[in-house]
Amino acid sequence: MTSPPSAPLKGRLSVPGDKSVSHRALMLSALAIGRSRIGGLLESEDVLATASVLGAMGAGIERLDDGRWQVDGVGVGALLEPETALDFGNAGTSVRLTLGLIASHPIVATAIGDPSLSKRPMARVLDPLRTMGAEVIARSGDRLPLTIRGAETPVPITYELPVPSAQVKSAVLLAGLNTPGTTTVIEPVPTRDHTERMLAGFGAPIKTETDEAGRRQISLSGPAALEPMDLTVPGDPSSAAFAVVAGLIVPGSDVTVTDVLLNPTRTGLFDTLAEMGGDIAIENERISGGERIGDVHVRASRLKGVDVPPSRAPSMIDEYPVLAVAAAFAEGETRMEGVGELRVKETDRLAAVTAGLAANGIQVESGDTWLAVTGRTGLSGGGTVATHLDHRIAMSFLIMGLAADEPVTVDDTRMIATSFPGFVTMMEALGAAFTAETAPVS
Ligand code: S3P
Repeated sequence: MTSPPSAPLKGRLSVPGDKSVSHRALMLSALAIGRSRIGGLLESEDVLATASVLGAMGAGIERLDDGRWQVDGVGVGALLEPETALDFGNAGTSVRLTLGLIASHPIVATAIGDPSLSKRPMARVLDPLRTMGAEVIARSGDRLPLTIRGAETPVPITYELPVPSAQVKSAVLLAGLNTPGTTTVIEPVPTRDHTERMLAGFGAPIKTETDEAGRRQISLSGPAALEPMDLTVPGDPSSAAFAVVAGLIVPGSDVTVTDVLLNPTRTGLFDTLAEMGGDIAIENERISGGERIGDVHVRASRLKGVDVPPSRAPSMIDEYPVLAVAAAFAEGETRMEGVGELRVKETDRLAAVTAGLAANGIQVESGDTWLAVTGRTGLSGGGTVATHLDHRIAMSFLIMGLAADEPVTVDDTRMIATSFPGFVTMMEALGAAFTAETAPVS
């Protein structure tokens, strides 16, 4: 797909439901005793993979005519052994959190995924889950495919996160649901807290304290019973990010993304864009389902480069590719430090962003854990970007083309459906005009 320079983008749009919240809403509903209903669920490939694996373990999941999803939960401790391998597709959050669920149930399951997911490290969740009593046989380096046997008598642990990862935190807490005793996760740097908030909402005995060193300690007493509930998933800030950046960098634009989740563990990109001089305003702020939400209104702005501190990484970890695109149109250097985790996402995002920007005439440098982009040094665009099965690389560079001097082409757009089906249609409704070419079937 090719993204040519665009006329001003104008309008209001809402983005689909948050991916992290959608996975968790399905999982906790599947473990509650009784019927839950979820409005605004993200109907993307990743989330549908979660629905399908939970169905294979006994939950009754169906889409209602009004668009809500109804989940009949099995109750904590009652997941059934799946009869076939669980296919997680491209979904890292889905597999890591589900491994946590299985780890404290006495069942055996095999997890498989696509070539991107099969390259991603699973040791970060398997290490603590093994300590809790799960047994795992995995391909070398603890990668998929793997088979896990959940513990008959799981053991509670206190686990300090060695990497700032909400997926690891969540896997341990979800395993703690069916573990007698207190399971504690200590996180030196706060990461997205949807699991904790939602566990409390479903009635689990969970508490979060901050110790003298400023570390968050999250403790859950198990085994815990979950009560069903009705909930609505707010719009995904990580999807809103694309329209927000486009609205700032395409001259003459004025764009509002409505009903966006504004949980502070997710809003690092908006803070950074404001520091860069972006005209970005949060309007109509309110609380919905225990979360802060609001409308994000942007107008095209002359951005300037900034230093993005490592402490901000967890609150915008999925937004660095599109921030790097914004930086390509900013005056001066934008330096992003402490972003080594980008190397283990759907692809090595530091490498993919560096190569993609360089192919499009942007001055860019990167190291193991940092990225530096200098904007406006010459003509931009004209290149083709390798997306490596990564949805956010594809969307970020389609946004780049809208503001570049020459069109930008991405080699594949199929993966966009893993997180943001409707991305192309929504950007077109704002005024973008992409052109698509279908690759010949080989
Ligand atoms: C997620 C956590 C983040 C993020 C991912 C979703 C989650 O991963 O990149 O897209 O829903 O918990 P890490 O926990 O590995 O940082």
